[in-house]
Amino acid sequence: MAFIVEARNICKRFGKVEALDNVTLQLEENEILAVLGDNGAGKSTLIKILAGAVKKDSGEIFLEGKKIDIEDPMHAKNLGIEVVYQDLALINCLNVYQNLFLAREIQKKFGFIKVLDKKAMEKQSNEKLAELGVSIKNIRAWVSKLSGGQRQSIAVAKAASFGKKIVILDEPTAALGVKESRHVLEIVKKLKAQGASIIIITHNMEHAFTVADRFFVLRLGRKVGIKEKLETNIDEIVKMITSGAIVQNNI
Ligand SMILES: Nc1ncnc2c1ncn2[C@@H]1O[C@H](COP(=O)(O)OP(=O)(O)OP(=O)(O)O)[C@@H](O)[C@H]1O
Ligand SMILES: [Mg+2]
Repeated sequence: MAFIVEARNICKRFGKVEALDNVTLQLEENEILAVLGDNGAGKSTLIKILAGAVKKDSGEIFLEGKKIDIEDPMHAKNLGIEVVYQDLALINCLNVYQNLFLAREIQKKFGFIKVLDKKAMEKQSNEKLAELGVSIKNIRAWVSKLSGGQRQSIAVAKAASFGKKIVILDEPTAALGVKESRHVLEIVKKLKAQGASIIIITHNMEHAFTVADRFFVLRLGRKVGIKEKLETNIDEIVKMITSGAIVQNNI
């Protein structure tokens, strides 16, 4: 079976730092894969390579079994790979619907002139957010005025919109409270229900166990192992993250 995404034998150095040492990651269709590891383990570097934001030194990337060279972030987007970064997800000086439709604005013809179709964008924004259960009272609100949880929910909804097949989330709940985190995780589950294949990076084990089907553990740039949720537990995953050891299950 072809994986929806496979990053094979990826190596990446930053000067003396070996950020990724021969790492292979496989994402199955319609699964949620949690990428876990301590600070500096190489998680963000790995997903930035998939997003076209960082160039790998060596290794290969396959999309639905076909080898591809991801040239830049726009190329990754066009291939159906969408990434939500922790801080850079939204533009503060734009409102909600402008953020959702950034770089894919709907236009209408006004005689010979093309103008932005704000009504259509507002209507579709409301529909898309409602589909994912994101409640934003005013679609024209500046995103700088929204809570962290609302902003993150919109960022995830944005990544999910427009038929993206593969959604990558780098620590989507890092800055959020308990309730807001729960809400964002619900949206991630809805994304899966709508057919997306998802990679989520998190430091929060409870969040990882709430949404993910499998856990992929990195340590100091190396792959420690991969575990199905049903065959592991938090203690074991924490041991893999901190000591690099794969412990035998006794459950
Ligand atoms: N642009 C860069 N220039 C130099 N070194 C970098 C760069 N990006 C990452 N690194 C280094 O590569 C290693 C892996 O970094 P990476 O950001 O992938 O880790 P991470 O697992 O995402 O960590 P965190 O949990 O703290 O976000 C670290 O040692 C980091 O300092
Ligand atoms: Mg990171």
